[in-house]
Amino acid sequence: MEIKKITVIGAGTMGNGIAHVFAQNNFPVNLVDVSENQLEKALKTIENNLERQVAKATISEEAKEKAIANISTFTNVKAGVKESDLVIEAASENLELKMKIFRELDEFSPADCILASNTSSISITKIASATKRPSKVIGMHFMNPVPVMKLVEIINGYSTDKEVTKTIIELSKQIGKIPCEVNDYPGFVANRILMPMINEAIYSLYEGVAGVQEIDTVMKLGMAHPMGPLQLADFIGLDVCYSILNVLYQGFGNPKYAPCPLLTNMVNANILGIKTGEGFYKYTGASKELVVSDQFK
Ligand code: CAA
Repeated sequence: MEIKKITVIGAGTMGNGIAHVFAQNNFPVNLVDVSENQLEKALKTIENNLERQVAKATISEEAKEKAIANISTFTNVKAGVKESDLVIEAASENLELKMKIFRELDEFSPADCILASNTSSISITKIASATKRPSKVIGMHFMNPVPVMKLVEIINGYSTDKEVTKTIIELSKQIGKIPCEVNDYPGFVANRILMPMINEAIYSLYEGVAGVQEIDTVMKLGMAHPMGPLQLADFIGLDVCYSILNVLYQGFGNPKYAPCPLLTNMVNANILGIKTGEGFYKYTGASKELVVSDQFK
């Protein structure tokens, strides 16, 4: 099946990043969000990120303009999906919300349209059960920042058709990504391995093994990770880390995945990382220098 027209549902960080890479690779993209304000913010972010690429001479000014022209915005799902070959849902990580969205996508998109979710840990098989086309439902898990990160984790639900998987793998290559096919079990592969590492880093802090900077420096310089695990947790969002750990904990019924009590406390206090201005570090100005939160000094 050839994919020509793409719709992205949700104009947050992941949604605007996904729209950006498809538009940059000459696909017409419909970006849908219930909030007009969020759509405006997303277009501004995409423009700034494309501008960054122009400044680095990785794309031309003309390519930037073409990419922007490839994006249309909608506040209405029905209008946004009606002629699409592929819809990629990138709404918040909430099962009820995703089930509601997939019921709508099933109702309003063409019968042969593939429905993908960018979920980081919710079961694709479960999401597919909201539709009458489970064989056409698949996971397309992009990594943040989407324009920079090469991986797309492709998740086969229980009933995903092999032809659908093949189409999505080819499409991912077409936009310059490296797809990696996995099956639908809690956390898939990326977060099944990443989140226990982050949780263990938080336990190391909680138990006083080392400070924030020391833990991150060990992993950055010792294992060549671009960010230490505590900085990465702030970048992903502590609420997101907490919710993924709970998916692993409940999905496997194994206490080794239970979120560290310090993480639980921080989430309850609404200290969620970059998005709230504080997590393990403080994010105050434009400076790139990392400042450890007063709580951990
Ligand atoms: N759009 C376009 N380009 C961007 C960008 C964006 N949103 N963000 C950064 N860049 C580009 C910069 O222009 C720069 O380009 P050059 O290499 O050509 O100079 C490059 O990316 C590096 O950016 P910076 O110099 O600003 O900053 P950095 O060197 O500190 O790198 C980083 C930033 C790429 C985010 C790096 O720290 C990194 O790779 N961190 C780890 C990211 C990671 O692990 N992501 C996965 C998170 S898990 C997830 O997403 C899934 C989940 O389910 C939880």
